[in-house]
Amino acid sequence: MNRRKVLSWFGLGWLFSGVPTLLTACSNEQATTPSQTTAVATTSAPTSAPKSGFRAVGTIAQLEKEGQIKAESVLVVRDRSNPTTPLAVNPTCTHKGCTVDWKGGEFVCPCHGAVFGPDGSVRKTPAKEHLATYAVKVENGQVLIASK
Ligand code: FES
Repeated sequence: MNRRKVLSWFGLGWLFSGVPTLLTACSNEQATTPSQTTAVATTSAPTSAPKSGFRAVGTIAQLEKEGQIKAESVLVVRDRSNPTTPLAVNPTCTHKGCTVDWKGGEFVCPCHGAVFGPDGSVRKTPAKEHLATYAVKVENGQVLIASK
């Protein structure tokens, strides 16, 4: 057997090794019914796609476990005085842009000591403008904030 024949046999072997996989994939696709497709879609991971003007930033389980949810430009916390409704603010301090922390029922800036209430209002300068807030709701275990 010459070199060319050996190489052609390897080529055919490679081609036929993929046939069972191809047949399996085709048969699965034909066996899928619309209801099965829906079942797969509902078991997929939650997304942050907008839900009627709201977007998911985390889960209520995450909020309870970690005490807060940090997402892009959003800090969600739970105020002990109103534990049923999470609070969401833009954590960027309005003084010079540091990121505020949630401490003892208020948002505190670590840079120059500004303090904001749970509603984002200034309680202590040097910040003069309130933190931006977001409407929050919980649906199906997801924490959703209003898109701005
Ligand atoms: Fe927050 Fe200055 S940046 S108090």
